[in-house]
Amino acid sequence: MSAKINVAILGATGAVGQELLKLLKERNFPVGRLKLLASPRSAGSKINFGGEELVVEAVNEQSFTNIDIVLASAGGSTSKAWAAKAVEAGAVVIDNSSAFRMNPDVPLIVPEINPEAAAKHQGIIANPNCTTILMGMAIYPLHQIKPLERIVVSTYQSASGAGARAMEEVKTQARAILDGQTPPAEIFPYPLAFNLFPHNSPLNPEGYCEEEMKMINETRKIFNAPELRISATCVRVPVLRAHSEAVNLEFEQPFTVEQARKILAGAKGVKLVEDWQANYFPMPIDATSKDEVLVGRIRQDLSHPCGLELWLCGDQIRKGAALNAVQIAELLLQKNLIKPAASPVAAV
Ligand code: A2P
Repeated sequence: MSAKINVAILGATGAVGQELLKLLKERNFPVGRLKLLASPRSAGSKINFGGEELVVEAVNEQSFTNIDIVLASAGGSTSKAWAAKAVEAGAVVIDNSSAFRMNPDVPLIVPEINPEAAAKHQGIIANPNCTTILMGMAIYPLHQIKPLERIVVSTYQSASGAGARAMEEVKTQARAILDGQTPPAEIFPYPLAFNLFPHNSPLNPEGYCEEEMKMINETRKIFNAPELRISATCVRVPVLRAHSEAVNLEFEQPFTVEQARKILAGAKGVKLVEDWQANYFPMPIDATSKDEVLVGRIRQDLSHPCGLELWLCGDQIRKGAALNAVQIAELLLQKNLIKPAASPVAAV
């Protein structure tokens, strides 16, 4: 393996793809050749990377030749169509979609939580769901000290979770409403500007939506805690790109607020934001474009002796997606884990 890594970004024109490009530059990732891939719609368009104009290509059978790492963020169906081909061509795929996350042969990684899982990869590593990453960052440091028994989380999710076009849609809707017009809704099922609605992913027979089940199942997999009791309510709110979450935690043993605060103040990738005098706590505008997950309003749950409440905000595009993926790529480099797959893996 040469010191320079040949990277392909699948979904380079999207919101996460654009952030991946920024992060590769910002973090001095040792990029050799960089291939920008998207749908045929974007073929021929140009994107600047460090002063160089790169031409976007429509993904095709030859796209992954001599590529070491594929950072994929073009949706589940695109990943299902191309990941195995990229692995066959000798690349490691870090996949931001949900296509492979629950496959037992695919590590699901938050580098601050379970970096050791990377050693088992067979060509594909999954990047977890954004709300799951952000919550995990804030609660795993506590879980390591006193195990969690139960989590009840409510999310306040920004438009960016549905992609760049969804972010534009919210802006267009806001302008339309302010001009006294009826807002168009094409990406989302309902107007999101000046509104909110329960997450619009498909519902299961128990009444949970897919996003809620991702938080439940992925957290259990990342924490290696298959029995952990979790319930989630996911809601889309008219915020552009940072998610917020209200999290109720029940531990096996009581935690004092001071203990929890001390642990989180020292946790990597977490920033404690609490000014009780000023009633100032994490807000999406403060979390936007930041790497850290902002955590605050840590308080005793008055209804349970082993319970804590906390509030967090994190940039959905950055730590919720692109940053976590680049950190996984850095981890592969550090541990010398960029290698051809043992066998192709199936989507789950
Ligand atoms: P394109 O811009 O050509 O549609 P977002 O999540 O922000 O909406 O971005 C989605 C990304 O995934 C975009 O880069 C988009 O490219 C890409 N994409 C969508 N469908 C496909 C596909 N069938 N093949 C390759 N890339 C795709």
